[in-house]
Amino acid sequence: MAVLGVDFGTSNSAAGVARDGAPHLIALEKDEKTLPTAVFFDFEKKRMLIGTAAGKALLAGEEGRYMRALKSLLGAPLMREKRNLLGEKLDFIDIVARFLAQVKRGAEAQTGERFDRALSGRPVRFHGDETRNAQAEVDLREAYLRAGFDEVAFMYEPEAAALANRALLDEGDLGLIVDIGGGTSDFTLFRNGVDGIEISASHGIRSGGTDFDRTLSLETVMPLLGRGSEIRHAFGNETHTAPATIFNDLATWQKIQFLYAPDSRRLASDLAQYAVEPDKLARLVSVLADELGHDIAFAVEAGKIAANISGAGVVDLQVVERGLSVSLESDTVGALLRPMAEDMAAAALATVARADVAPEDVTHLVFVGGSSLMRVTRDALGQVFPQAAVHHGSALTAIVDGLGIAAEGAFD
Ligand SMILES: Nc1ncnc2c1ncn2[C@@H]1O[C@H](COP(=O)(O)OP(=O)(O)OP(=O)(O)O)[C@@H](O)[C@H]1O
Ligand SMILES: [Mg+2]
Repeated sequence: MAVLGVDFGTSNSAAGVARDGAPHLIALEKDEKTLPTAVFFDFEKKRMLIGTAAGKALLAGEEGRYMRALKSLLGAPLMREKRNLLGEKLDFIDIVARFLAQVKRGAEAQTGERFDRALSGRPVRFHGDETRNAQAEVDLREAYLRAGFDEVAFMYEPEAAALANRALLDEGDLGLIVDIGGGTSDFTLFRNGVDGIEISASHGIRSGGTDFDRTLSLETVMPLLGRGSEIRHAFGNETHTAPATIFNDLATWQKIQFLYAPDSRRLASDLAQYAVEPDKLARLVSVLADELGHDIAFAVEAGKIAANISGAGVVDLQVVERGLSVSLESDTVGALLRPMAEDMAAAALATVARADVAPEDVTHLVFVGGSSLMRVTRDALGQVFPQAAVHHGSALTAIVDGLGIAAEGAFD
C-alpha cells in the first residue's frame, strides 16, 4: 500500500513519494513543489481554500478568516477549542485535518495512487516544555487520522534532510544538517556509512523565521501602532505604557486571528481614547477593525527577505495608511536577529555535544530550510563550525525529499 511522505511545515508544506529510490515530489499547486501552509475560510462562497489561493483571497480583501502557522499551535489547549466557521463547529485539529485532506486528495489525483498511510515529518521539539511537545504529536497524529489516513508514522525533519543529502558526504564524513524553518530550528549530526547514514544525534529548538518576523515587526512596525506609547489614566495626570500583549499577538503569525474579537477591539479603542499619541493608536483600531494583521505580517516578511537579498528592504504599510512604510537596513535586521541566531548556533553545538563529538570534527555543514537563507543565521552557524565545508541543500524541499525516500519502508 502506498505511503505518502508529508512535510507539514509552519510556513510551507510539501508531499512526496519515492520512484526507483529517488524522491519524487508531488506538484500540489500547478508546477509548484511546495505550498504555503495556510487556509482561508471564505465566508461568501462558503468554502475553505488552502495554499496560494488562501493568501490571494486574503490580499484581495475577501470576507473570511485567514490562518497561517497553525503548526505552532499544535500541543496548545486551544487546538481543541471549537469555533464556528462556515456554519460548522470546528476545532483547530479539524482545520489542520482539512488542510491535510486536500494534500492527500491532491497527491492521489496527481499519482493515481491511494494513500492510506502517511510518513510525516516533525520537528525534534515542537515545544521546549515536554508535556506540550508530546501533546503536539498527539494533535498532529489526530489531524492525519481525521484527514482520512489510516496510519501515520513520524520522522524527525532534519533526519529526513540527512537522508536526502547523503551524497554530499564521502564515506566516513560527519555532516550536520542545519534546518532553520519557519517555526523551528532542527539539527542532525550524521555519518555517511557503507550501508546508509548513521544518525549520531538530533536536537532542536522552537525558533525560526516566523520569530524573526515577530521581532522585526515588534521593533520596527508596532511602534507606529502605539507599542511603547503612553496612555493617560482616565482621571489625573498619570500615564502608563500601552499593554504589550496586543502588539505581541499582532506581530505573531499564529496569534493574529485571535485578535479579531470584540474584547481586543474594545481594548484598542479604549487605548486610543486616552492615548498621548492618538494617531498611532488609531492605526491599531483600524488594523483590528479592517483585519489587516496578516497583511502587516506579509509586509514584514517581504521586507526581511528584501533586506537580506539586497541589503535594504522596505516594509510597505500602504494597506494601513497611505504612504506609510518602514525601511529595513540589513545591518538593523542583523542586529535585531543576532541573539536568536546565536541561540540557534548554541543548539547546533549542543547537538554535537550530545554525540560526544568535538565541533572541529564536523566536516560538512548542510543548510536547509527557508531561514537558512538569512545571512544572520549562516554567519552565526558558520562561526561555530569554521572548518566545516558549507553546503546549501534545496532550502524548501530537502525534508520532503527525505520523507519521500523513507516513506516506502516506513511501515515495514
Ligand atoms: N529568500 C529568503 N530569505 C530569507 N528567509 C526566507 C527566504 N525565503 C523564505 N524565507 C523564510 O523561511 C521561512 C520558511 O522556511 P521553511 O519553508 O523551510 O519553513 P517550514 O518548513 O514551513 O517551517 P518548520 O520547518 O519550522 O515547520 C519563513 O520564515 C520565510 O520568511
Ligand atoms: Mg521545515
